[in-house]
Amino acid sequence: MAGRIPREFIDNLIARVDIVDIIDARVPLKQAGKNYQARCPFHNEKTPSFSVNREKQFYHCFGCGASGNVISFLMDYERQTFVEAVETLAETLGVDIPRESYGSENRGQESNLLPLYQVQEKAAEFYARQLREHPDAGKAREYLQTRGLNDEIISHFQIGYAPPGWRSLPTTLPADQLLASGLTISKEAGNFYDRFRDRIMFPIRDRRGRVIGFGGRVMGDETPKYLNSPETPTFKKHKEVYGLYELLATRKKPERIIVVEGYMDVIALFQHGIDYAVATLGTATSSDHAELLFRYAPEIVFCFDGDNAGRKAAWKALEASLPALREGRTSRFLMLPGSHDPDSLVREEGKEGFDLRLVEAKQLSDYLFQHLSENLDLNSIEGRSTLHQKASPIIGKLPAGVFRDMMQARLNQLSGHGKASSPSRNKSHRSAVQSVQRATSERAKPSMLRIILALLIQNPDFFPLIDAEARQELERDEKAGELAAKLFSILKERPEIHCGGIPEHFRGEAEYGLVLKLSVLEIPLSGLDARSEFSATLEKFVAQQKTMLVAQRLEWLEKKAERIGFVGLDEAEREEYRRLTRRK
Ligand code: CTP
Ligand code: MN
Repeated sequence: MAGRIPREFIDNLIARVDIVDIIDARVPLKQAGKNYQARCPFHNEKTPSFSVNREKQFYHCFGCGASGNVISFLMDYERQTFVEAVETLAETLGVDIPRESYGSENRGQESNLLPLYQVQEKAAEFYARQLREHPDAGKAREYLQTRGLNDEIISHFQIGYAPPGWRSLPTTLPADQLLASGLTISKEAGNFYDRFRDRIMFPIRDRRGRVIGFGGRVMGDETPKYLNSPETPTFKKHKEVYGLYELLATRKKPERIIVVEGYMDVIALFQHGIDYAVATLGTATSSDHAELLFRYAPEIVFCFDGDNAGRKAAWKALEASLPALREGRTSRFLMLPGSHDPDSLVREEGKEGFDLRLVEAKQLSDYLFQHLSENLDLNSIEGRSTLHQKASPIIGKLPAGVFRDMMQARLNQLSGHGKASSPSRNKSHRSAVQSVQRATSERAKPSMLRIILALLIQNPDFFPLIDAEARQELERDEKAGELAAKLFSILKERPEIHCGGIPEHFRGEAEYGLVLKLSVLEIPLSGLDARSEFSATLEKFVAQQKTMLVAQRLEWLEKKAERIGFVGLDEAEREEYRRLTRRK
């Protein structure tokens, strides 16, 4: 890991970019009064309720409640990680990201990867050019033709050809980077040769389009049939898949993603109009793969050959995908007939045939119970208890929720063990009711405290209006005191901060959601401008807090007097009692 990105840099970044430009480039906006509108990219709707506010540098959807600043938008809309979102913004402004270094071994590792991406990008271009120009490339082009690939597909996937010689890669490419990326191999110091020779080359990109490695296939029967880049700092086989970038280039929001085993499967499916498949990189499906893909589509269909190896791979994929199966995500399993792989099947049956099979792909629940029940006699106690034993730990890997409850209920029904409906379902019902109640109360008129905090977040320049006394009262509040205190220290340290920058200081903390809500909370101004409304509410709040304190103190003194008699109070307490009752 590289060092942290300095807070101040992120604050400045948010202050300098314009959220309207950033969103408009991705979701075209129409001006409507002070705000900009569009149909919400986060849910389906006919009339626009997605609104972007340039002043606040915030977006908010009145339909689905999505809201946030420019970083949240990039994270949610483009599924970028936080660091990627910062990188995107920095790129827009053409500035470099500074890193706070800690420990010299960590320093700048991430930025050191840049030359590695660059050399692989250049190599991909080189291989693609060789396929068109190299004197020996005729048989490669012929081979691709026999596999049914047209020029359009070849260029979409940037398929190339590695020439037969030992040293074909351009000498202009830096030798150390070639070696680090695994494109060359060195048996002795200073002596290199190309890893990929006389092979069809498939560049492998990450979801942002950077070349991270290669797969190379022989054209005849030589072995190995496929040769892949070794694990390098850019190439992590259990984290990356083949074809995701190419998929997202044609479909931003696929309904589902098919996972297959081979590069050629992805390409053949694509060519037949099934342009939403990816392949693992010669490894089993991992949980990281499942998590990655679920970021882009709510459904994953695992598609494997019908043979023994395919069945094993499917079961591994099932186990790997379990922890990722949160609410709203599903996975299904498609086992192909005979000796078919997706490539051969789609060529034989066409898109229509493949689509039909896709519709019939088994739900994970069916596949799981069917697989575990194989060779078991569920009419016997032995069979049913074995099923229970085998299935319980697997179901336990599912995240808690309705789906897990229902799988457990199904298992109980099949095995005749335990209750058919599990008690945790009541719990999730209860919490659903609670969250509805919470949502309803949130729609009621905001409390004074909320109004103050919301106006302050939306107008950081109001901060000097809060005097020491008010500050103390706000920080004392049981519900939002901590948030208030944190907010004050941010505003004190960075008086220039923009409204859109504030949530960044809370990201990943318990208060983040509340800060987002407050940032977009519409405050009804009772005929005053925001600044006067703020001062007035603040004054009222402080007065109210004081009265409450007086009442509490009075109550305490009265209780004490009741217990030990008024004369039992010491002189100071008696004096205080008289003063407070007079005030009251
Ligand atoms: N694979 C690999 N190394 C091998 C063989 C296979 O990494 N020696 C990986 C490749 O990612 C390949 C996938 O496993 O795409 C599937 O292999 P296989 O079924 O043998 O190949 P196909 O995809 O059917 O390839 P083709 O149709 O080109 O023969
Ligand atoms: Mn094949």
